[in-house]
Amino acid sequence: MEIFSIKGMINLDEKEMAKKQAGEASVRFIENGMTVGLGSGSTVYWMIRKLSDYIRDGMDVAAIPSSRQTEAWAREFGVPLTDFSKTQQLDLTIDGADEADREWNLTKGGGGALVREKIIASIAEQFVVIVDESKLVDQLGSFPLPVEILPFGWQATVERMRALGVEPVIRQTDGEIFVSDNGNYIVDCDAGLINHPDALHNRLKQLVGVVETGIFSGMTNKLIVGYPDSAAAFP
Ligand code: 5RP
Repeated sequence: MEIFSIKGMINLDEKEMAKKQAGEASVRFIENGMTVGLGSGSTVYWMIRKLSDYIRDGMDVAAIPSSRQTEAWAREFGVPLTDFSKTQQLDLTIDGADEADREWNLTKGGGGALVREKIIASIAEQFVVIVDESKLVDQLGSFPLPVEILPFGWQATVERMRALGVEPVIRQTDGEIFVSDNGNYIVDCDAGLINHPDALHNRLKQLVGVVETGIFSGMTNKLIVGYPDSAAAFP
């Protein structure tokens, strides 16, 4: 199953061009000698590609990937990898998002990598988020909230989530339940427009069987927004 759709270099549509702009613009925040967390998704793909140019020119970095797909891209583009046995903190993590609201709270997990993404974001001094302009929203909630849960008793966990007032759907691909890199399942939750992201995260997270939610609240340090022909970094 292809988790992230990457178009070829030719005939990129406007959205893909905007992702490319955001991903490539983020690389200038990576400095020589840094340890870097690599998020997941198609916007991150462009960041990794660009980073490989800097590495070819002599930049020294070590990276921790947040998914098998990202690890494969890092290997393909010659980005040196490290792991948690060597470092438990990162200088910078760069990752995409499915939605970003006005306070830079995020919904993540569209690609199913939210747990590892949250771990590498939480141990980074700087968390840089790269999105194309279509991801900017007034309030989170149009994109169903991904939540990773344990396979054991998943039906019971889903019912408990429903009792909290969300509409949970177990993620499937080609008629099979989607399995995350951690061996868990993902539930996509329609929670309507989310007025209090932190509160929703806390209510879901307290349920037995829930591993992590895709709400990343108060974590973003820098937001880079891509447009088809440019990118803007905030602050
Ligand atoms: C994966 C993620 C991705 O960052 C998110 O889905 C955005 O992906 P893309 O850059 O392909 O739009 O959270 O779990």
